[in-house]
Amino acid sequence: MMPRCCLAQPASSQPSKENIMYSTHIRNAFVAIALTMTLAACGGGTSAPAPAAAPAAPAAPATPATIKLYGQTCHNCHSIPGTGAPQAGDTKAWSGRLYKGREALLNNSINGYRSMPPMGGCTQCTEEDFAALIEYMSGSQLK
Ligand code: HEC
Repeated sequence: MMPRCCLAQPASSQPSKENIMYSTHIRNAFVAIALTMTLAACGGGTSAPAPAAAPAAPAAPATPATIKLYGQTCHNCHSIPGTGAPQAGDTKAWSGRLYKGREALLNNSINGYRSMPPMGGCTQCTEEDFAALIEYMSGSQLK
């Protein structure tokens, strides 16, 4: 018998007379196997594989303009491990920075902060651009 996908209760269609003949553990085993088969039928190949979590994948949705700016500037450090920059998509690294708040992070982006160069190399970026870029990298809304 082919398991029908996502049948809620695979054993419920068994006539009760037959059920009585099963010892409890055999019946449980049957249910477990049927469930496994059902799950395998549901999950096997039909659903798209979960996207591999690339460590540097930015999490927040961003406009094409922001992504372009990012690729031209911030990317050079914020997607290159070993530069000391909190990596884009690394929510843990960013959580240690986000608490500073929007104003401080914008200020540090524009004026520079330790080994972070002023404006991150993006001299044409506006304050709104910096905010969008930080949200893009951190995957969080600035507050
Ligand atoms: C030349 C490398 C480099 C580039 C380019 C760069 N950053 Fe950075 N950034 C860093 C480094 C390194 C740090 C970590 C500084 C530290 O804490 O020592 C950092 C930290 C930050 C921080 C956290 C500051 C804080 O207060 O903790 C923000 C925000 C930031 N960068 C935004 C940007 C943005 C936006 C861009 C692109 C416009 C950008 N960065 C481009 C190197 C860079």
